[in-house]
Amino acid sequence: MVSTRILLLSLLYGSAVFAAPTQVRKSKEVVHMNKNNNGTNSSSSNSKSNSSSSNNNNNNIAGAAYFITNEPAGNFVVAAAIHDDGSLTFDRAVSTRGVGQHGITDPNGPDPLFSQGAVKASAAAKVLAAVNPGSNTLTLFSINDKNPVDISVIGQPQSTEGEFPISVAFNKAGTQACVLNGGQVNNVNCFKVDQDKGLQPIQNTLRSIGVNQTTPATGPADSASHVIFSEDDSKLIASIKGDPKNPGFLAVWDVSSDGSLSQNFAKISAPQGGALPFGMSVIQGKNAVLATDAGIGFDVIDLSNVNSRNSNSSNSKDVSVEVKDQKAVCWAAHSGKTGNFYLTDIGTSKVTEVSVDDNLKATIVNQYQQTENSATTDDDVATINNKDFLYVLQPNATSVAVLSLDAPGKATNVGNFNLKDVADKAGLTVNANNLSGMTTFVVSQ
Ligand SMILES: *[C@@H]1O[C@H](CO)[C@@H](O)[C@H](O)[C@H]1NC(C)=O
Ligand SMILES: *[C@@H]1O[C@H](CO)[C@@H](O)[C@H](O)[C@H]1NC(C)=O
Ligand SMILES: *[C@@H]1O[C@H](CO)[C@@H](O)[C@H](O)[C@H]1NC(C)=O
Ligand SMILES: *[C@@H]1O[C@H](CO)[C@@H](O)[C@H](O)[C@H]1NC(C)=O
Ligand SMILES: *[C@@H]1O[C@H](CO)[C@@H](O)[C@H](O)[C@H]1NC(C)=O
Ligand SMILES: *[C@@H]1O[C@H](CO)[C@@H](O)[C@H](O)[C@H]1NC(C)=O
Ligand SMILES: *[C@@H]1O[C@H](CO)[C@@H](O)[C@H](O)[C@H]1NC(C)=O
Repeated sequence: MVSTRILLLSLLYGSAVFAAPTQVRKSKEVVHMNKNNNGTNSSSSNSKSNSSSSNNNNNNIAGAAYFITNEPAGNFVVAAAIHDDGSLTFDRAVSTRGVGQHGITDPNGPDPLFSQGAVKASAAAKVLAAVNPGSNTLTLFSINDKNPVDISVIGQPQSTEGEFPISVAFNKAGTQACVLNGGQVNNVNCFKVDQDKGLQPIQNTLRSIGVNQTTPATGPADSASHVIFSEDDSKLIASIKGDPKNPGFLAVWDVSSDGSLSQNFAKISAPQGGALPFGMSVIQGKNAVLATDAGIGFDVIDLSNVNSRNSNSSNSKDVSVEVKDQKAVCWAAHSGKTGNFYLTDIGTSKVTEVSVDDNLKATIVNQYQQTENSATTDDDVATINNKDFLYVLQPNATSVAVLSLDAPGKATNVGNFNLKDVADKAGLTVNANNLSGMTTFVVSQ
């Protein structure tokens, strides 16, 4: 019975995948949200819900924050201007020329892709890539580095050669983009970033993961999560959630100088106590990653000798760490200024700050309660005028929380910026259950 229902569901969703792209309206490629009255552009924040936070009359754009609407009738990248004080103004939404899709959950909730990194900016290449989970494509945009809310599609959206793409990563130079497909056909696949032609497939990068999944994916347990490069670009790492009975793992491929990937991946099981590796952040200078773990809090995983380990071997440095009272810690971002990691929990709407020492020993430094039930998800750090700010998508409140990372253990809220009203006025469809991703770009000084 159950499997018949899942099969029916996947067939239904499958046919929707084929029908959906024709529904994308060609007429609205860009939806402007930063207009006052008769189209005069507003320079002040258009949607600040916290009126006590500092007043922003700054015309300068210091950077931009981006996430996707992931709507089934048309996927858009929402671009918000970041001002000098870290505050946001939603400026526009630009069509990806693809469609979104929601993974299978009962009931439907926020975090539609069970992923981190649905959209990712490359500072080095001044480009942005976004997944189209319902089209099985990846879209590349150029970023205007003087006015980074101004993004334009380069080339055509490219087939990901898998199903339900959910996460994308760039190497340091921004010359290679790799996508993680989390559906029935689950794999990674990489593209050369061509600034004129767009994404160009790279030979020998389509690598199956072989998880037993559906399209769209059923989750969050046992689904794919996030793809990143290691700090030195020598490895591509995908995180796969498990469940308490079958712990999840990291899949680690070697990346050759021509961008190709090793045929097989090294499988690193979640450390004892861990089960659902989710969002990852590299631990700089340590050849290690911090992976959030929705089953316990987070995992610290050492990548040294990864190819000589087998999935059963435990590395003495690998450890799962409990975040007390956690419900589902799933996303991670690192601050260069404080040196710490900022993990978000969709269930408690708390940000947990973690420090990791030279011996990979992790300590919880502080916790910051965000708006109750806002369901804090993907997050990213931007350095504005030598100070780090944390941008946290709060999909259930259709808003973004901004925290000023003043010092280790000392983050303060700058404000919450609500998209719903400006999106409604501009005619952009946004749903709490479908918003995904968070990435930032900073204008060079
Ligand atoms: C819009 O522009 C027209 C013509 O310039 C002006 O008469 C009108 O007052 C403006 N409306 C608002 C709301 O500013
Ligand atoms: C207003 O914003 C739009 C798009 O954001 C831009 O094309 C236009 O040049 C801006 N106009 C002014 C007067 O700044
Ligand atoms: C989200 O997307 C799904 C399809 O992927 C769609 O059916 C639904 O209307 C959207 N909105 C919400 C709130 O789920
Ligand atoms: C895959 O998952 C489905 C649904 O849980 C299950 O019925 C099926 O036996 C699994 N297939 C394999 C090969 O494990
Ligand atoms: C892992 O452990 C299981 C159970 O102890 C064993 O059957 C299996 O062969 C081991 N796998 C490897 C790759 O060592
Ligand atoms: C989202 O908000 C609704 C109320 O609007 C609440 O019932 C639900 O629990 C929230 N979901 C999450 C994951 O916080
Ligand atoms: C607004 O921001 C200030 C400064 O961070 C904070 O103290 C206050 O609690 C916030 N108020 C609301 C309603 O979020």
